[in-house]
Amino acid sequence: MHTGLMQMTCNFGLAAALLWGLSADATANEGEALFKKQCGACHTLSADEPRRQGPALNGIIGRTAGKAEGFPYSKGLKQADWAWDEARLDTWMVDPKSVLADTYMIYKQNDADVRRRIISFLKTMQE
Ligand code: HEC
Repeated sequence: MHTGLMQMTCNFGLAAALLWGLSADATANEGEALFKKQCGACHTLSADEPRRQGPALNGIIGRTAGKAEGFPYSKGLKQADWAWDEARLDTWMVDPKSVLADTYMIYKQNDADVRRRIISFLKTMQE
């Protein structure tokens, strides 16, 4: 009886959390699909997955650049002493070579809306 009540309360909490997530985070959800399409060929979101061309990007916002363990970064990223924030990520996606001339990342995204959605998704992937 007590266990049943606990279960109900938990389920309610979960449903509420899911609903909140859906309404408040539509941008992040769109961003997830965009991430898979735009970045997923080269980046996973977990260090446990086999590495692709680039490092895993979970927890990237706030992390010092060039510090994913074991990743063979370009010299520029390896020596970077700044952390990724939204503005840096945005500039990076426009043209990585404008941030670090020797970077290995070959990609350009001119659509500000696409960049905004991907950043919004990455903010939800901080684990
Ligand atoms: C064609 C492959 C490719 C694609 C597509 C790509 N990247 Fe990268 N990315 C790389 C590589 C390779 C590096 C490592 C670059 C270096 O060492 O200079 C990298 C590095 C990064 C870094 C720096 C990570 C760190 O640890 O400091 C960020 C941030 C990043 N990419 C974000 C993105 C995002 C966001 C997208 C999608 C919009 C994307 N990348 C798409 C290949 C790619």
